[in-house]
Parts: sequence; structure tokens; C-alpha cells
Amino acid sequence: MVAGVRPPLAQLLLLPLLVTFFSSPASAADTIAANSSLADGETLVSAGGVFELGFFTPASSTARFLGIWYMGIAPQTIVWVANRDAPITGATASLAINATGSLVIADSSGRVFWSSAPSNTSGTGAPVAQLLDSGNFVLRDGGGAVLWQSFDHPSDTLLPGMKLGWDLTTGLDRHLTTWRSPGDPSQGDYTFGIDIRGVPEGFIRYNGTAPVYRNGPWNGLQFSGEPEMEPNNSNFRFEFVANASDVYYTFVVDGAAGVVSRFVLNQSSVQRYVWPPGGHAWSLYWSLPRDQCDHYAQCGAFGVCDTASGSPACGCVHGFTPASPRDWQLRDSSAGCRRVTPLNCTGDGFLQLRGVKLPDTTNATEDKSITVDQCRQMCLANCSCLAYAASSIKGGDSGCIIWSSLLIDIRHFPSGGEDLYIRLAASDLPSNGGGPSKTNIVVAVFVSLAAFLLFGLGGFFFWNKFFRNKGTSQSTQRFNSFDSSIPLTPVQDRKLEDESGQNKDLNVTLFDMATIAFSTDNFATWTKLGEGGFGAVYKGELEGGQTVAVKRLSKFSTQGLGEFKNEVMLIAKLQHVNLVRLLGCCIHGEERILVYEYMENRSLDNFIFDKGRSAQLDWSKRFDIILGIARGLLYLHQDSRYKVIHRDLKAGNILLDRDMNPKISDFGVARIFGDDTDSHTRKVVGTYGYMSPEYAMDGVFSVKSDVFSFGVLVLEIVSGRKNRGIYSSGEQTSLLSHAWKLWREGNAVALLDETVAGAGEHRVSEVRRCVQVALLCVQERADDRPHMAAVFMALGNPGAVLPQPRHPGFCSDRGSTSTDGEWSSTCTVNDVTVTIVEGR
Ligand SMILES: *[C@@H]1O[C@H](CO)[C@@H](O)[C@H](O)[C@H]1NC(C)=O
Ligand SMILES: *[C@@H]1O[C@H](CO)[C@@H](O)[C@H](O)[C@H]1NC(C)=O
Ligand SMILES: *[C@@H]1O[C@H](CO)[C@@H](O)[C@H](O)[C@H]1NC(C)=O
Ligand SMILES: *[C@@H]1O[C@H](CO)[C@@H](O)[C@H](O)[C@H]1NC(C)=O
Ligand SMILES: *[C@@H]1O[C@H](CO)[C@@H](O)[C@H](O)[C@H]1NC(C)=O
Ligand SMILES: *[C@@H]1O[C@H](CO)[C@@H](O)[C@H](O)[C@H]1NC(C)=O
Ligand SMILES: *[C@@H]1O[C@H](CO)[C@@H](O)[C@H](O)[C@H]1NC(C)=O
Ligand SMILES: *[C@@H]1O[C@H](CO)[C@@H](O)[C@H](O)[C@H]1NC(C)=O
Ligand SMILES: *[C@@H]1O[C@H](CO)[C@@H](O)[C@H](O)[C@H]1NC(C)=O
Ligand SMILES: *[C@@H]1O[C@H](CO)[C@@H](O)[C@H](O)[C@H]1NC(C)=O
Repeated sequence: MVAGVRPPLAQLLLLPLLVTFFSSPASAADTIAANSSLADGETLVSAGGVFELGFFTPASSTARFLGIWYMGIAPQTIVWVANRDAPITGATASLAINATGSLVIADSSGRVFWSSAPSNTSGTGAPVAQLLDSGNFVLRDGGGAVLWQSFDHPSDTLLPGMKLGWDLTTGLDRHLTTWRSPGDPSQGDYTFGIDIRGVPEGFIRYNGTAPVYRNGPWNGLQFSGEPEMEPNNSNFRFEFVANASDVYYTFVVDGAAGVVSRFVLNQSSVQRYVWPPGGHAWSLYWSLPRDQCDHYAQCGAFGVCDTASGSPACGCVHGFTPASPRDWQLRDSSAGCRRVTPLNCTGDGFLQLRGVKLPDTTNATEDKSITVDQCRQMCLANCSCLAYAASSIKGGDSGCIIWSSLLIDIRHFPSGGEDLYIRLAASDLPSNGGGPSKTNIVVAVFVSLAAFLLFGLGGFFFWNKFFRNKGTSQSTQRFNSFDSSIPLTPVQDRKLEDESGQNKDLNVTLFDMATIAFSTDNFATWTKLGEGGFGAVYKGELEGGQTVAVKRLSKFSTQGLGEFKNEVMLIAKLQHVNLVRLLGCCIHGEERILVYEYMENRSLDNFIFDKGRSAQLDWSKRFDIILGIARGLLYLHQDSRYKVIHRDLKAGNILLDRDMNPKISDFGVARIFGDDTDSHTRKVVGTYGYMSPEYAMDGVFSVKSDVFSFGVLVLEIVSGRKNRGIYSSGEQTSLLSHAWKLWREGNAVALLDETVAGAGEHRVSEVRRCVQVALLCVQERADDRPHMAAVFMALGNPGAVLPQPRHPGFCSDRGSTSTDGEWSSTCTVNDVTVTIVEGR
């Protein structure tokens, strides 16, 4: 459920080195000679029976492809595809070596689907192609010289012994390219390869250009961005070569015949799988990017990203300040950080940043021959040098990397990482001017959304649409504070900060039942505040006089003790001004109780749906509440270390503090997920009226289901009406259809609750924008709905150009897409909270 947990390494090292699953070599040949061919249906099998080559059909496809897969591993795991962009349909093709010595896939009519590059047949004798036990398919001339090999043309998989990178003498760039989809091996949008400009680094890129992830320069032991790589692991050995003729990364599985391992570029992540000997499935060993800080340039130029504190963590390096603080509130960091005091060249010094991933080295220069001290002198002597670092940390620091342009994509690691020395004006150095300092790196914190561009295609296209007029690499940010092993001090506008400053003293109290029972008069009905999706809530008063909200979880949460405690610890780490704070828990027999801070003004539904009290919330207050909820939800979805889907977002779960600031409650009880790109099918838990169609009908929920609920909530806040009875004009049965109708009539402002007072001019445009964003959120298709990041940006940015919403996914009046009488009938019930245990 939680991302980034890797199996303990020891476990992997102890894998027995036994091959139990490879079938004994079949009688099939491993070679194709000149003038012979391999027909569809026949296969080559490598001498040791490890790999098999032949024609295959991917799941959910009808086309044939020539590929290589592991023999004896089911389901078939394709590691290489020849004709990935030329599917064979409507014909039967075969593989042969043609008269001039090229491998060719052609059908009987001579139509060529694929061929290896024309080879140089000046060698002696007839060429032969052989499938090796390494998975390499090699075409050799009669003299044994390699004419062509599949390892030089990777698909999406890196096998042991394959090289990822460049042969500089021939200009060959070996990189991985994703499959377009699991059923379509044609080249997808993401690539993973080595960039040899400046100091070489690995990059995952989108569309061949936009960087998604960067693993940093090789430091002699590992990539700077992957400090957990173990250079001397007895099973895996990594090697990085960078000399005049070659720049590549490779790994070998060392003397361990039983460990089968492969790297796959799967959508935008690099995944390493191992097949344990005797195992029954691939297990994911690790996967990159690991977290938001791995997303390229997450914190902009001169920013530092750090997730160690458990809260979103972007900051400016000490001596730098947000270039455009106003934009930070709109989460727009495109301007990055700017230097406080200009450099004056002669009087400058260096600030030491410890334990970091070195910034992008595309424009950096390296000199391996000098010492780090000489590097420092060289940097100091050249006014255009902005930072330096050792180029190798193997056997002590040595060598020199120098940056003279922007420092981009720095992250801090809780352990491991390297030292980076950044040039600052003397007056900005924290102490003893000039010397490397170990103290006080003041960081203002913000979070960039650049990662969102790259999270998924749906997201990508949405953003493209959203910000077409605003340049390409928009990223956004917000103020925040965090602590970590770099001492940090939050700066500036505290208004939007979260409470993670309190992370250090994060203590979850374990209350005993007697205390809880006493504080709530033994759960007396008069202390009951309400009943939510996950249980009843009581008002309690602790001995010190502190008022708390006590949530008694209903019995369906049949978690084990350890699991429950675990989850409570995780929930307690989710801290944000727009989330209700968890103070502790109580476990007693079957009882599971959560204790939260108490919110004076109870829940939002008490105001917006109450004719008397709704006047207390004027438009600007309502708009602030909408923004606050968006911010809290965004934190849950994206910024917190654990991606959390709320699953029961509704007005009753938005609590208001003394100053009417909204705080999302009940988020903790939703499951904690590691991966927001997945949809999960679990128990359907939620509230009708707020549930997205795909969730209510199929039990498929994702962050987009929360987005749907958010959209409903916004319409409710604007209109002051619940998403059920608007029976005003007969056939209008839901708030969504009502809002949609008004929107299409160009009269969105009419949705505004007539009792709402407030601020004249912008009101009209703000209301209109809220309605438009809400309608985008409640669109029928989950893929069409924006992510919360885009939602937040759109709400806070008057200039944002928004797409036109499509038909909302509401219960009745679903138009021609409707397939489900059942849905309509269940959906028009009111908004009681229901629990459907799913049957899939
Ligand atoms: C392949 O066929 C061509 C033409 O039929 C012939 O000239 C050549 O000698 C053959 N090569 C081998 C290795 O049999
Ligand atoms: C063999 O295939 C290569 C590559 O497609 C092609 O250039 C060459 O002309 C072919 N040779 C013959 C004799 O068809
Ligand atoms: C083909 O081989 C000859 C002799 O081995 C060599 O001179 C020539 O450069 C090679 N051509 C290519 C395209 O590799
Ligand atoms: C990516 O990986 C996931 C899980 O490992 C798998 O379900 C999915 O099919 C993969 N996608 C592609 C395009 O291979
Ligand atoms: C991909 O890049 C090409 C040019 O390299 C560009 O024309 C195209 O619009 C890009 N596609 C996307 C989806 O960004
Ligand atoms: C790996 O271990 C061997 C022997 O223990 C040692 O000689 C070698 O220097 C080590 N390599 C690295 C990169 O630490
Ligand atoms: C570069 O390194 C590779 C692998 O160690 C080696 O085979 C090659 O000869 C080296 N090239 C040069 C020019 O040193
Ligand atoms: C640079 O800073 C040093 C020390 O603060 C000062 O002595 C010197 O005059 C400054 N030089 C310029 C050109 O401003
Ligand atoms: C490298 O330099 C180019 C050209 O000046 C610039 O466009 C690019 O942004 C720079 N990249 C980095 C990471 O500094
Ligand atoms: C200073 O650094 C820049 C950029 O690395 C380089 O182009 C220039 O030659 C250097 N100047 C001196 C005097 O070394």
C-alpha cells in the first residue's frame, strides 16, 4: 500500500542460486543459417534453454510479432521485439537471412515487415544468426565477426550484459523505449537512455525530449541520484563506462545462474524485476522514479526537494528566494528561485549542501584528474562557475564537476547522497564567510507540479490543454515548511504553510479505553456529533480540558492490530492546515477508536445547507473554503509522502475551525496507496450523490473519484443545495444536471445561492470559474477529469484558460451513454452513506 518499500536487500541476496524452472533444452535449434528460414510457429531456443525466439501475439492483439522471451516463464515475458512498429496482419511471415546477409521478416509475397540494417558482407563465408543464452540474437559472418545483434537495438527491456548507452565510434545510441500499451509493442512515448552532453547521466524522457527523471552522474560507485545502488552486491554488479569510445551502463547477474533479473521501462518508470528461483511470478525489486522529488526539476532552478520530513518539500537553496512569491500561492514555480545578493566574483564563497543528488550536468564540465581542492580553486577563480562537486566518491572524493548555468533538479536524501558546493556572495554565507558551512540552509518551501505533466498521458494531455497558452514547462509550487537533516527555516508567507513543522514531535498518543469512555460520558448520545461513513463521532473532553473528536470505527474495519497501528502512524504523518489532525488512537478488544482535534464550527453542511446559517458564509469565504479543500485534497493525492485517496469526500466531512478554515476529516480511514496511477477495486465505501459513476457502478476508484466528489462539493458550496433534490423544473433531478443546464445556457452564475452576499465584481467571474472547474471534475469519463493539481491551479488563477466541460456523469439524464437502468434507480436515493461490499 505504501510506495517505495523495497524488499530488504538481504532477502534478495539469499535467493538460492538454483534454476528449477528452465525446461531442459528442447531439440529446437538455436541458429538460422543463410538460405534457411524460421516460419511462424517454429522457434529458436538458446543452447541452455533460457530464451526462445519466434513469432507471438500480444494479449488483446491479433497481429504477429517476432520476439524473444524467457523459456519456461509464464506468463510469456517478452524481452525484445523485432518488428515492433510493423505488425504482421493478414499474412504469415517468416524470418530469414537474405542473399546480402540481412535478417529479414517477410511474407511469401516478398513484402518486408522488418530487416536488420544492411550488413557488410565483405567478411568470409555465409552468415549465421544465433540466439544466445544471454537473450542476445546475434548475426555473424562466416568469420565469426558480429554483423548485427539484438542487444544493440533494445526494446523496453535491459537484460544482464546489455549496454544502455553509446558506442561513440559508430554513434550507436542504445536506449529503452516503452511499449505503447501492454497489447501493443510499437514504440511508446517514454525512453530511457544516457545523455552524453556534459557529464553523462541517465534520463527517462517523454516524447524524446521532455525529461521525466534523471539518475544523476556516475560517482564511481553509483548514480548520484540512486545512492541505494550497491556497487558490490554479490548478485548484481553494476558497471558504468565512460571513455573516449564508450559511454554505457550495464549490469551483470554474477555467477548466480538462478537469479533472473530484468529492467523494464514501463510507461514513465524504470522497474527492475527479479524472478526468484522456484518462484511463480516476477517480483518488483525497485522502481524509479521513487517519489515526487525524483520528478525532474520538481523544485525548479536553485530549488532543493526533500521528502524526508514526510511533507512536501521544495525549497530555495540558502541565499536564494522565490523569484515570484506571488505565483507560489498559485503553485506556479516556473520562475524558480533567484539569488538574494548578486555574486561579486572576488569576495564569494561556497555553501556546502550535503547528502544531495547533484544537479543536472547537461551543461556541466568534468575533470577527473584534479583534486577537489583544486576544483574549488578553479571554481573560485572563474566568475562564471556557480557550483562544484567531486566527480568521484570512490575511495574518497576526487575529480571535479563544475556548473556554470542554472542548478536544476537537486534533491536531498535522508541518507547517502553527495556534497555540492554552491557559490554565494560573502554576505549570504551562513557563517565564517567562505568556508564550507554545515549550518542553516534556509529554505523556503514549495512544490512543483512539473511531475504532473509526466504522471500519465491523461494528465499530460489535460495539462497541455490547460496551459497551452502559458508556455510548456509550467510548474507550480506553494509555501510549505519541513525539517530534515539539512537545517531549514521556513520563510515568508506563513499563511499557506502546513503544520509539518510539528513533524519532529509527531506523537500519536495511545489512549486507553477508560480515558476515552470517560471523556465521552461512555459514548452518550448527547456527546454524539454525527455519524460518518466509517463510524460515529463523539465530542470528548480530556482530563487537561482539551476538547477532542472521538471517532469510533464501525466493525467493518476488520484490520489486524499491527496493520491498524501502522495505518494510524501513517495517518498521523499526514499533516496539513487543511486536514484535521489526528491526535491518537485507542485499541480495546474489537474497538478501534481515532482521536482528532475538535473543530469549533463543526461541518460545512451545517452552514451551506441551512437557510439560517448559510448567510454567515459570504462568497469570498466560500471561495476560500473551496480553495482550502482543493489544497488539502491535493496534499492527500500528491504532496504527502503517501498518496491517499479519500473515498468519502462530502460536505459532512469538511470541518470548519474557529476562523472558518476548512479541514478535511476522515481521510485517514481511506486506504493508503502507493500509486495514484492505478485504479483499485475494493469495497465500495462512500456517499451516494458524491460517488463517481465508475466507482459506484464498478467499485473502481482512483484519485479521479475524489476529483468527482470534489466537483459535487464545489457545486454544493456555490448553490447551497445538496446534490439530490432540485425538483424545480420537473425533469431536473440532480444538482449536476441543473448546473450543466445553466452552464450550457451561459448562465452559470444563476447557480449561486441567492442568500450569498459578497464582493461585487470578481464574484461573477469567480463563481463562473468555480462552476466550470466543478463541471470539469464531474465529467463522465474519469480520464477527462483533471487532477487536483490542475484544479487548484485553475481555481486560483484568474487567467487560466480552461477547457469546456463535457457531459457530467450524473445519475439520471445520462444521455445516450447510459447503459444502466440499475444505476439510475440506485442513484436517485438521497445522500445517506452506504457501504456496498463489492462482489468482484
Ligand atoms: C543461398 O542461395 C543462393 C542462391 O540460391 C546461393 O547462391 C548461395 O550459395 C546459397 N548460400 C548457401 C550458404 O547455401
Ligand atoms: C536484404 O535486406 C536488406 C535490408 O532490408 C536489403 O537492403 C537488401 O537489398 C536485401 N538483399 C536482397 C538480395 O534482397
Ligand atoms: C565494410 O567492410 C569493409 C572491409 O572490412 C570496410 O572497409 C568498410 O568500411 C565496411 N563498411 C561498413 C559500412 O561498415
Ligand atoms: C506496467 O507494469 C504494470 C505492473 O507492473 C503492468 O500491469 C502493465 O501492464 C505494464 N505496462 C506496460 C505497458 O507494460
Ligand atoms: C512530441 O514532440 C514533437 C516534436 O519533437 C512535437 O511536435 C509533438 O507535439 C510532441 N507531442 C507531445 C504530445 O508533446
Ligand atoms: C568489491 O569487493 C572487492 C572484494 O571484496 C574489492 O576488491 C572491490 O574493490 C570492491 N569494489 C567496490 C567498487 O567497492
Ligand atoms: C572504454 O572502455 C571499454 C570497456 O572497459 C573498453 O573496452 C574500451 O577499450 C575503452 N576505450 C578506450 C578508448 O579506452
Ligand atoms: C566584493 O566583495 C568584497 C567583500 O565583501 C569587497 O571587499 C569588494 O569590494 C567587492 N567587490 C566588488 C567589485 O563589489
Ligand atoms: C543547458 O544549456 C542550454 C543552452 O544554453 C539551455 O537551454 C539549457 O536549459 C541548459 N540546461 C541546464 C540543465 O542547465
Ligand atoms: C570559466 O568557465 C567558463 C564556463 O565553464 C568557461 O567557458 C571559461 O573558459 C572559463 N574561464 C576561464 C578563465 O577558465
